[in-house]
Amino acid sequence: MTAGVSSGTSPAGPSTSRFAELRLEGVGRRYGAQTALEDFSLSIKGSEFVALLGPSGCGKSTALNCLAGLLPLTTGSIHLDDRRIDTLPPERRGFGMVFQNYALFPHMTVRKNIAFGLQMQKVARAEVARRVDEAVALVQLGEHQHKMPGQLSGGQQQRVAIARAIALHPPVVLMDEPLSNLDAKLRLEMRMEIRRLHQDLGLTTVYVTHDQEEALSMADRLVVLREGVIQQVGTPQEVYEQPVNSYVAGFMGYRNLIDVDVTGGDAEHAVVEGGGLRLTGANRGVRSGAAVAAIRPEDLVIGETDGNGIEVTVRIAEYHGRELSVEATTEQGRSIYFRTPERVAPGDRVVLGVPRHRVLVFGDASAAREAVRAGLES
Ligand SMILES: Nc1ncnc2c1ncn2[C@@H]1O[C@H](COP(=O)(O)OP(=O)(O)OP(=O)(O)O)[C@@H](O)[C@H]1O
Ligand SMILES: [Mg+2]
Repeated sequence: MTAGVSSGTSPAGPSTSRFAELRLEGVGRRYGAQTALEDFSLSIKGSEFVALLGPSGCGKSTALNCLAGLLPLTTGSIHLDDRRIDTLPPERRGFGMVFQNYALFPHMTVRKNIAFGLQMQKVARAEVARRVDEAVALVQLGEHQHKMPGQLSGGQQQRVAIARAIALHPPVVLMDEPLSNLDAKLRLEMRMEIRRLHQDLGLTTVYVTHDQEEALSMADRLVVLREGVIQQVGTPQEVYEQPVNSYVAGFMGYRNLIDVDVTGGDAEHAVVEGGGLRLTGANRGVRSGAAVAAIRPEDLVIGETDGNGIEVTVRIAEYHGRELSVEATTEQGRSIYFRTPERVAPGDRVVLGVPRHRVLVFGDASAAREAVRAGLES
């Protein structure tokens, strides 16, 4: 046997073997009259890292718990290659779970916590010891392995939870906001560690988070949810640069949402006007009438660009090291947020420009606002 995760050694049986595809078909979950998840269909490739992203209450944990087998489905089915697995209890699916609250046994040492699942699976003693050694080394907890959870920092406890999940050599690891209890520095370190483990072990990971940056930096693909419904599935670059609707745009950092009317343009471009502004942007499905122009603060630069110019007065300039984060207002009193390396100060009047392809013109303004609020609160 070579080191690292290998297949087919556990009595849990075929669930530990590698697979090509984990497929959810029309998965739905209701709680009484409330639909927490609706028609969730997704194909996850073996060894892919998928993030489920969305604000609180959008159904992320519900989706994960349906995958794990902790929640029965109301509709739909789940398949691992040709095998239907939503009818199997959690232990027969053999997925590793890492919960937000670690859920470690407080009266057991780190080693015993990690060994527990393997012992439940009746893995032979020598093999348990070998797998615990391996998992302890992978998450770099060697010097802490004989401590109790209460003697560990939050980050160390979280690593125990991860070690416990990967010691089972699961085909799929499910993680529900595993970093949300950690401080900012540790979160950044653990992000990289989880991604490294995922790659080194060839895991398939489904990772729940409400943090856009976390999802963008870790995942191969993102699934953006809103009220139980998938809005967009795509690579980080696709979701970041080409949000399919104003909700996703709002959630992904298009903080400037300017109410406008479409006054011209074609299928590719939309010319929009409102509140004294006139902009040309990328047409994302509008023809005429009321629309919203979505612009990221970091896409606005000082100086007219591509024929787009917005005159503003600086109100607040926050220092962020290399850049200032600025809130400004137009003459008609609309707030515009931008970032700039230039040292502007309250009262300064500047013209902001933005390339046409960085102004997205969508039809539905209310969804975008809701998403910006959710994104800022999360
Ligand atoms: N046991 C339950 N009974 C009734 N409603 C529930 C139950 N669990 C979840 N819900 C509801 O289902 C919806 C989705 O919940 P879920 O826990 O999946 O959200 P989430 O995206 O994980 O949110 P968070 O980021 O806050 O963890 C919510 O509106 C929630 O109130
Ligand atoms: Mg949740």
